[in-house]
Amino acid sequence: MVVVGASLGIGAEAARRFAAGGARLVLAARGVERLEAYAAELRATGVQVLAVPTDIGDPAACEALLSKTIQTFGGLDVLVNNAALHHRGPVSTVAPDALAHMVDINLRAVVYLTCLALPHLRARGGGVVVQVASLAGCVPTPGSAVYSGTKFGVRAFSRALDDELAGTGVRIKVVSPGPVDTGFILDDLDRVTDLTLSQPMVTAGEVAQAIVEIALNDRFENKMPGSSGVLTTIGYLFPGLGRWLRPKLEKKGRANKARLKARLAAAKGP
Ligand SMILES: NC(=O)c1ccc[n+]([C@@H]2O[C@H](COP(=O)([O-])OP(=O)(O)OC[C@H]3O[C@@H](n4cnc5c(N)ncnc54)[C@H](OP(=O)(O)O)[C@@H]3O)[C@@H](O)[C@H]2O)c1
Repeated sequence: MVVVGASLGIGAEAARRFAAGGARLVLAARGVERLEAYAAELRATGVQVLAVPTDIGDPAACEALLSKTIQTFGGLDVLVNNAALHHRGPVSTVAPDALAHMVDINLRAVVYLTCLALPHLRARGGGVVVQVASLAGCVPTPGSAVYSGTKFGVRAFSRALDDELAGTGVRIKVVSPGPVDTGFILDDLDRVTDLTLSQPMVTAGEVAQAIVEIALNDRFENKMPGSSGVLTTIGYLFPGLGRWLRPKLEKKGRANKARLKARLAAAKGP
């Protein structure tokens, strides 16, 4: 199986859990040192691991990732598309090429890798692609408009493709978390919207567990935590109600952000 974005955060936790279940793993990310070090750590526990440094923005690198997987392990049964980036802030404050790069990595590359994986999954009679989306892909999120758009795109693509593949044994699944306790959000806390932080934070381990479970069960999507999933669905279906609720949620998010910053400062020490 292939985990993309496997050197840190959710992807690293997912790889560890799949390995504990006996999977043979291909780990992909850009940073070579961190990726190799993590692969060595897993190998030391007796797991078969191949590390393939990959920037998913490069189509040739995506092709090489899958061909090395097939050469090494003889097939592909699971692909976890977990890598993404987030340039935060109102659209007018972010450089257009940075916004376009976000579309390229978060959506185009996910579509490309998924399509490259399909013939290999079909060749072995079935398999799963798990896409890591976001609750920002369930309700339009001001301050993260393009990121939100890419994650809506991943969810729509995945739902439509899963329907197209009915009866083939190949499934496309989605895990859509709210804020997660990784560097993705904690290293950029000042720019994270108050609306985002109004929702309970889940751990990378919880999201990883959801990835492992959805690869094995019949569900199409896991929005987590469930309470935030319901709230985003209401916000999407009733945008007027969502706008009315937003100031109250933002107030809660500001308080959560202040508490989180204090906790992180205390953990860092003087
Ligand atoms: N953390 C959150 O609050 C949150 C909330 C909702 C959804 N998500 C989603 O969860 C997923 C994982 O997030 P995370 O929090 O685990 O992030 P993270 O801790 O920043 O880890 C990101 C991983 O992706 C790799 N990566 C980044 N760009 C890549 C590229 N172009 N090609 C290949 N690998 C790349 C990184 O390694 P290199 O930098 O070495 O490439 C790293 O291994 C993302 O899809 C994100 O949108 C996160």
